[in-house]
Amino acid sequence: MVVVLLGPPGAGKGTQALRMIDERSAVHVSTGDLLRAARRKGTELGRLAQGYMDRGELVPDSVILDLVKAHLETIDAETDVFFDGFPRTTDQATSLDGVLKDTGRAIGTVVLFDVPDDTLLKRLSGRRSCPDCGSVYNTFFSPTAVEHVCDRCGGALVHRKDDEPETVARRLQVYQAETAPLIDFYQAHPASVTRIAADRDVGDVYADFCDAVDAAFRDVS
Ligand code: AP5
Repeated sequence: MVVVLLGPPGAGKGTQALRMIDERSAVHVSTGDLLRAARRKGTELGRLAQGYMDRGELVPDSVILDLVKAHLETIDAETDVFFDGFPRTTDQATSLDGVLKDTGRAIGTVVLFDVPDDTLLKRLSGRRSCPDCGSVYNTFFSPTAVEHVCDRCGGALVHRKDDEPETVARRLQVYQAETAPLIDFYQAHPASVTRIAADRDVGDVYADFCDAVDAAFRDVS
């Protein structure tokens, strides 16, 4: 089954997806993480994506779709996939339906994480990420035991360049213009849509997320 995590920058999609795949044998596919990995490796894709990401703009659909298709080919068709930050436009969503159909997969549920903008700004300014193991922390809400050091693997934490306030403002505008229309798209889609108030304790949000995913699994079995 495929689960799509939808929500604005900083809504907690990555945090929730990582917790979910820690507990279930599933795969987390974050297009943001794939692009950042390509940038670190200095590939052509990474160089192409850099300007868009640093400005808070979306990377062109054709580039993202090629990336996702290639990545899906590395994942067994029976494995459950949690998409985080993809799709982000209605063209990406329409293409995803086609790709999934071709590979015998389908979206079981779409989970929308709702958070007010003022909370998003605080979360993004405090976010610190581990480029080595992908763990995510927050200087306000979930600090590490030792400042700048990943609790899980000891890696050196980074503050994302696109988490600077001007870029965050642009990312929120882009979310409203390009990605929020997906809420209507998926409400008219065969997959179920669950809206979760994500401005709460991580564990409470996770409990609702599990309920939504479990209900979708029950529906397909
Ligand atoms: P991407 O990396 O996907 O960024 P995003 O969607 O903007 O999402 P974020 O990673 O910022 O937030 P999140 O919801 O995962 O929150 P997190 O869990 O980290 O994309 C980056 C860029 O790549 C884009 O701008 C674009 O250029 C490009 N791109 C990527 N995909 C693309 C696509 N499909 N098409 C085109 N371009 C694409 O949490 C945030 C912080 O809050 C953390 O510090 C966390 O610890 C904290 N936190 C989380 N939950 C809670 C809670 N409940 N309480 C308190 N703190 C919390």
